[in-house]
Amino acid sequence: MLTAIIGGSGLTEFEGLTIDHREVMRTEYGEPSGPITFGRMGDAEIAFLSRHGPEHIIPPHRVNYRANLTALRQAGATQVIAVNAVGGIDEGLKPVDLVVPDQIIDYTYSRDHTFFDSEHGPVRHVDFTYPYTERLRKIIIETATRQGVSVIPAGTYAATQGPRFESAAEIDRMERDGATIVGMTGMPEAILARELELDYAMRAVIANRAAGRADGEISVTEIMENLAAGIDKTRVLLQSVIPLL
Ligand code: HPA
Repeated sequence: MLTAIIGGSGLTEFEGLTIDHREVMRTEYGEPSGPITFGRMGDAEIAFLSRHGPEHIIPPHRVNYRANLTALRQAGATQVIAVNAVGGIDEGLKPVDLVVPDQIIDYTYSRDHTFFDSEHGPVRHVDFTYPYTERLRKIIIETATRQGVSVIPAGTYAATQGPRFESAAEIDRMERDGATIVGMTGMPEAILARELELDYAMRAVIANRAAGRADGEISVTEIMENLAAGIDKTRVLLQSVIPLL
């Protein structure tokens, strides 16, 4: 079974992987964000893709999500762990906390958000009641707990268009909607994985408190520092999670 890891900001390389080869793949939707790195971790086969490209130059609204998921599927992946940097909306969430969300609200627009858009049908509607695969969520949460890494085992991810951060009023509105974390890349990735029948779960790291939730403005320097710490936690966690998937 091949497990795909899609790395977000802060995770452009995945150390701990015994690299077998890298492959530039093409799909009918164009090129994915970069080459896919194939390797092993213990007995587990891994395909790693950096969502923003190896040089971190593709902004969230320009990521070719359809090509990324299609390439991973073509490579033989059956399940995907997404690693995402997020802002914390819920006041209990602080930088470097890890969250495994169980719900999503989509505020993005103008992105290629479906594989089922042929003019000639058939019309396809996909169930998205539970956007993340519970089996994968459970493995991540239980492994973290066993390791003494604290994770917040539920949360509602607000997917925003970016690349700008949100206004404080927008975050207030998202909180009223029930969102607890906010990021720019959670959609359409999750629904495209579902359309391709790939199991999918997210492990989010809080990079900052969302707009209006801390004193002053959002600092990118602070985000980068928090991500560096969060990504170390992520590596350790994924190294234990992957053999169990
Ligand atoms: N908003 C949206 N996306 C983000 C944030 C945020 O505050 N932090 C990291 N990604």
